[in-house]
Amino acid sequence: MNIRESIDPTRTAAWQRLEALAPDLRERHLRELFADEPGRGPAWTLEAAGLRADFSKQRVTHEVMAALLSLADDCEVLARRDAMFEGQHINVTEDRSVLHTALRLPPGPALDVDGVNVVAEVNDVLERMGGFARRVRNGDWTGASGRRIRNVINIGIGGSDLGPAMAYIALKFYSDRAMTFRFVSNVDPTDISEAIRDLDPAETLFIVASKTFGTQETLTNAKAARQWVVDALGEDAVEKHFVAVSTNAERVSAFGIDTANMFGFWDWVGGRYSMDSAIGLSTMIAVGPDRFREMLNGFHAMDEHFRHADPSSNIPLRMGLVAVWNRDFLGIHTNAVLPYAQFLSRFPAYLQQLTMESNGKSVRLDGARVDYDTGAIYWGEPGTNGQHSFYQLLHQGTEIVACDFILFAQALEPVFDMQDMLAANALAQAAVLAFGRTAEEVRAEGVPEALVPHKVMPGNRPSTFILAARLDPHALGALIALYEHSVFVQGAVWGIDSFDQWGVELGKAMANSILPDLQDADRPLDRDSSTNDLIRAYQAMHATT
Ligand code: F6P
Repeated sequence: MNIRESIDPTRTAAWQRLEALAPDLRERHLRELFADEPGRGPAWTLEAAGLRADFSKQRVTHEVMAALLSLADDCEVLARRDAMFEGQHINVTEDRSVLHTALRLPPGPALDVDGVNVVAEVNDVLERMGGFARRVRNGDWTGASGRRIRNVINIGIGGSDLGPAMAYIALKFYSDRAMTFRFVSNVDPTDISEAIRDLDPAETLFIVASKTFGTQETLTNAKAARQWVVDALGEDAVEKHFVAVSTNAERVSAFGIDTANMFGFWDWVGGRYSMDSAIGLSTMIAVGPDRFREMLNGFHAMDEHFRHADPSSNIPLRMGLVAVWNRDFLGIHTNAVLPYAQFLSRFPAYLQQLTMESNGKSVRLDGARVDYDTGAIYWGEPGTNGQHSFYQLLHQGTEIVACDFILFAQALEPVFDMQDMLAANALAQAAVLAFGRTAEEVRAEGVPEALVPHKVMPGNRPSTFILAARLDPHALGALIALYEHSVFVQGAVWGIDSFDQWGVELGKAMANSILPDLQDADRPLDRDSSTNDLIRAYQAMHATT
């Protein structure tokens, strides 16, 4: 296999086969699939790394699955997977390895990448992070005036924010409740202002997290935070109140943070794949190094499964292939992520970056334009709240939305039988989406004829149901790795580079060029008429504040 070469999936025999199968599946109802296959539930359920994934409510048959596995073969998905794990430069457009899986390798056998043993490097950084996290947690690391650190504020954006912010909430149950953790990302000045307004700088530690250390929002927020600390405690306080997480030591130093207080990572960790690198420092301070290691072990368990399990029982492979099937053959554009776990409230937002920044591409590795659909739109909210908001459209709207239900069997904080209620709701929603309710069934309930069409539930709306025992660090790691690898599988089938993000660069460059225009009302404008007009309107309103 040549990793730079992309295969047009539509030209494979498997794609043709899937196109031939699709019309039938577009017509067939999940009711029929369940009637035709007694025991379909368990037959389509796979287990690994403590997760149980039930694909039975996806609109697939064994014939479709066999063709999808052939598609994976034709597109060399597993060879690409192996190339990723070995550290080959599968991020073709940036000529980089893609090795987030190395972040969770246990100390042990070397993995040499471009002449460097990355396992040793990863574990060195983890050791340093562990030492630092322990000192902050036990009060050995104090602020400049000798006060204990009680507040940690992570400043970052995108992958340098969404992962840590999501993980802090997800693992809050295990966190040091005597400490406050906040996450500042937006260049909207209210974000930093609100984060610090009730805090004492003498007790506050900032983690400036940026892979490149060149991101405008992060550096501006960090500058504001620095000002706040310096105003209260003096210039010398900076070294006790700021640490950095980055791949760029020069820029960290230029910003004024001592590189002795910097935790590094590597260009082979993509921003959206970095929450288990040093970018997870806030997570480690919150839950402690041992729990952080348990999370890494969860990631690693799913990595091992993805790497070694037979294709027929490989959960990320199946999840990725089903996503391709939904997108390209059933015409489903969007995927809702519905965690029935309030602590996973930021998980959909985290997945938005993971999935859409990875697979929102329309050219293949060789630059050829695709003529098939790639990455779906991911979004979501925890259940049961979403049920009282957007589920109406999921059940009866004209847009078919594929859904991922995520449920844990054990309550972290049991109250009455609330966990059972939560579970009952998740199970009910998945069943109603799949099987619906026919007009005959509605009539049989004595519903007046005029209301019958309104009460019919079409069903046949596909979902995957992920169940685990308990939301703990291991389960969180396994769940994230599952999505990471599913995204990989989809990108490999589509022949795109899931690890670059060129599409976000132009907007950043243009924002930089608009800023001086906004700040000088006398500058002549030569942009499009809409942007020119908005600039002038903004200036007029801004001047009155
Ligand atoms: O704008 C997109 C992006 O490059 C993401 O991929 C990344 O996670 C984010 O910006 C933040 O980048 P950095 O960690 O370098 O500040």
